[in-house]
Amino acid sequence: MRVLSNHIAIRVMEDEHDRLSAVIRGMQHFVRAISKGKKAPDPKVFRAMLEYISEYPHKVHHPKEDQYLFARLRARTNRVNQTLDELESQHRQGESQTLALEQALTRYELEGVAAFQPFFDLVETYAEFYSHHMELEEDVVLPAAIKFLKPDDWAVIDAQFAANADPLAGSAYKESLDKLFSLIVNIAPAPIGRGPAS
Ligand SMILES: [Fe+2]
Ligand SMILES: [Fe+2]
Repeated sequence: MRVLSNHIAIRVMEDEHDRLSAVIRGMQHFVRAISKGKKAPDPKVFRAMLEYISEYPHKVHHPKEDQYLFARLRARTNRVNQTLDELESQHRQGESQTLALEQALTRYELEGVAAFQPFFDLVETYAEFYSHHMELEEDVVLPAAIKFLKPDDWAVIDAQFAANADPLAGSAYKESLDKLFSLIVNIAPAPIGRGPAS
């Protein structure tokens, strides 16, 4: 559920959720196509998606949530502490989950169909996990933030979420992640991306 707000931080956060959702939907589309016996996509596409969901949340998205939005919210209210604890714990699990996905993909590439089911299951589990994660942020954390945060909190949070305050903005690393996202959108088949329908 999207909240109505003019805060830059909220627009940036929702936009980043949209990007991550699109990539994760792309991953599901590919494993589901394989499970239905359709032509397997180029593993390079899947590797690009995996790299994106490994790097972008960890380096760009989660730190801004933890250090600014969640921290300021904890300082103003304890009503959502349990949800924030859960979300921070999920942020810490992210790296091991994407590593497990990468290992499962490697096994599938090496062993073929015998290693497909664990890979398929991990993708579906990850998609469910991350969708629930974003829902908690949008349905519980953002309404609480709008209710409890003060203008001086928002001044700091908006500045940190704004692209020009992003510590990675303009860096080669950030540009490479943006390029990676464009690449995924261009090569993934419709309706996920702009590539030819599969
Ligand atoms: Fe998060
Ligand atoms: Fe998030």
